[in-house]
Amino acid sequence: MLLEVRDLHVEFRTRDGVAKAVNGVDYGVDAGETLAVLGESGSGKSVTAQAIMGILDIPPGRITGGEILFQGKDLLKLKEEERRKVRGAEMAMIFQDALSSLNPVLSVGDQLGEMFVVHRGMSKKDARAKAVELMDRVRIPGAKERVKQYPHQFSGGMRQRIMIAMALALEPALIIADEPTTALDVTVQAQVMDLLAELQREYNMGLILITHDLGVVADVADRIAVMYAGRIVESAPVHDIYKAPAHPYTRGLLDSIPRLDQKGQELYAIKGLPPNLMNIPPGCAFNPRCPMAQDVCRTDVPPLYDVSEDRDSACHFWRECLNG
Ligand SMILES: Nc1ncnc2c1ncn2[C@@H]1O[C@H](COP(=O)(O)OP(=O)(O)OP(=O)(O)O)[C@@H](O)[C@H]1O
Ligand SMILES: [Mg+2]
Repeated sequence: MLLEVRDLHVEFRTRDGVAKAVNGVDYGVDAGETLAVLGESGSGKSVTAQAIMGILDIPPGRITGGEILFQGKDLLKLKEEERRKVRGAEMAMIFQDALSSLNPVLSVGDQLGEMFVVHRGMSKKDARAKAVELMDRVRIPGAKERVKQYPHQFSGGMRQRIMIAMALALEPALIIADEPTTALDVTVQAQVMDLLAELQREYNMGLILITHDLGVVADVADRIAVMYAGRIVESAPVHDIYKAPAHPYTRGLLDSIPRLDQKGQELYAIKGLPPNLMNIPPGCAFNPRCPMAQDVCRTDVPPLYDVSEDRDSACHFWRECLNG
């Protein structure tokens, strides 16, 4: 396994109390594989990604347990300097908002080139040529001329392509894309997503794709990990999940996708709200919202049950759920 997160715990100490944002996350991704991470707002998707990248806000954040094994090494045991070498060169992140991630006062060519100057010791001239090459790779028309331009001179979709180019520059083994297309128009979303998926295959990278968009997931992901209240509640190959979810929360998410063949019908929404992370309900965190909840769900935290060899569910009643 390229990356394996084991029993990761992260909390935030704030004036109002301790928010338990990540409560024992287990997931992994192989080279050449795409793992989609799904879950409502606040479920801990980004915080987990930040912990992997080593860019967590510490404090108020704190990693209170677990391991992050990357190419066999536990990243949490590395010194900051070693960690910095891994970041960028071996793993890179793509964010939702390119405008705030790119430097507004540097031309895109200088920003792309800097990667090669700093990490590969290239001359400015060679680095510039590399920048143009990368811009071609992510299909920015007129790369040779546009390499001198600044981020604000590009459209949202083109800026997102530049972020992809930055992430790819050093050919990392792993890319984490946190809602990479959310800020774009629907048609541009599909183009950017297709490009990312294509490059991921070509470079045989592991890709963790954090998204709200279940439509995208079906097309590009190999596996899905569903998060709820800072835990993985179901993890499975994409096709298995679409055939029959093994967790009522996954079912709720699937039922809330708009479907073209059911136009006009009211969209299903999971009732209730995500839990307060300072006061997560006992038992299964999803129990107050779950249509299948029984007494045991209000008292016993479900372990991750093996549904099959490559599939897990944290539901006491996964069998019943699977059988509809
Ligand atoms: N810097 C911070 N300070 C305090 N609490 C934080 C901080 N960052 C995250 N949290 C807490 O962690 C929780 C999980 O946040 P996270 O950003 O991982 O959610 P998410 O699943 O990525 O949601 P979204 O879909 O909205 O991006 C938040 O609800 C918040 O309580
Ligand atoms: Mg997020």
